[in-house]
Amino acid sequence: MAQVTLEHVGKVYPGDVRAVKDFNLTIEDGEFIVMVGPSGCGKSTTLRMVAGLEEISEGTIKIGGRVVNDVLPKDRNIAMVFQNYALYPDKTVYENMAFCLRMRKYQPEDDKQRKGPFAPLINWWRNRREKNAEIDRRVREAADILGIQDLLDRRPKALSGGQRQRVAVGRCIVRNPAVFLFDEPLSNLDAKMRVQMRTEISRLHNKLRTTMIYVTHDQTEAMTMGDRIVVMKDGVIQQVATPSELYDNPNNIFVAGFIGTPPMNFFDVEIQNNDGELAIKSDAFTLNVPQNWMDAVAPHVGHRLTFGLRPEHVGSPSAEAQNHPQTIAADIEVIEPMGSETYLYMKVGDAGFIARVDPHRACSVGDKIDLAVMMDKAHLFNPKTTERII
Ligand SMILES: Nc1ncnc2c1ncn2[C@@H]1O[C@H](COP(=O)(O)OP(=O)(O)OP(=O)(O)O)[C@@H](O)[C@H]1O
Ligand SMILES: [Mg+2]
Repeated sequence: MAQVTLEHVGKVYPGDVRAVKDFNLTIEDGEFIVMVGPSGCGKSTTLRMVAGLEEISEGTIKIGGRVVNDVLPKDRNIAMVFQNYALYPDKTVYENMAFCLRMRKYQPEDDKQRKGPFAPLINWWRNRREKNAEIDRRVREAADILGIQDLLDRRPKALSGGQRQRVAVGRCIVRNPAVFLFDEPLSNLDAKMRVQMRTEISRLHNKLRTTMIYVTHDQTEAMTMGDRIVVMKDGVIQQVATPSELYDNPNNIFVAGFIGTPPMNFFDVEIQNNDGELAIKSDAFTLNVPQNWMDAVAPHVGHRLTFGLRPEHVGSPSAEAQNHPQTIAADIEVIEPMGSETYLYMKVGDAGFIARVDPHRACSVGDKIDLAVMMDKAHLFNPKTTERII
């Protein structure tokens, strides 16, 4: 078990490609941290630097308090699962898991070593037996944890994708590493298997309590698995927070739009002062600025801002249940029934947006309807800096 610290870490690839810039993060001992962001944002590069598979251009990485910048991957006490978890096709599941342990030098206990004639032979034989017993114990324990006890004699080609993925994870567990690193380990699996493996990896973390760093571009995976989530864009950390903090209080427009499905709706608005009453005005609707926003919004009178509203905060059952809610009148363009809720694709002026409404709400394409807005859940962003104001 170990804390992992990255201080001012940067990576410049040949050709002056700055893949990671001034990355600062402390991952606590036993924490499950997820790095998420669009393709090319530097997630794998960061993980590979922690693993030692990629040289660090700037900064310091510590594992368990020890600076590992110049430590070889095999000496970092980490285990990594990739998207392409290459198993040895000719070895059984058991041997795939045992292999890395067999390659290791066995450290016998000195006081058990015999002395005298024939001692080298006897010691060699005994150490080999103890090493094999230890390997057997670890492989079976990992197989138990992962529920693959019945597959130990099979070869990889006789396994499903999910089972292979479990073997790849098992190969890491047997090594009892201080840190697990996962790089999009589920992206080769079908949707249903991905969901199942997601919960299995979470369960594994609850059981082992080993520090885990998990990379994905799938925000649902990030939200459901991470103790904390690191959102990255263009090699730069945008925000580090718990899933609920990230969802409720995104730092900027990028995080707000990246986390959540369907994504947050954004509207171009102007803040107007109508005889002391502040209003949020778009070309198609006007909303009063709530009292508790006044101080933050007052400096922006006359400015154009970005109004952010999640689909579940407009027209949803809880939005409609408010006392005298403010509303937006919009036209229904598409209706998507999802069973437990319905997505309405709406048009207001030039802006399109999505509302998650009660599935029993009576409406048809082409209707103009009033949708209640939950102002206490809405956000305002500065479009120039992209930072959140409210
Ligand atoms: N060996 C390399 N040489 C030059 N540039 C590289 C190299 N490896 C990665 N890059 C660049 O560094 C940036 C970050 O790449 P990285 O693989 O870390 O992204 P990622 O976030 O893991 O993306 P994905 O979700 O697609 O896996 C990209 O712009 C990529 O093109
Ligand atoms: Mg990657």
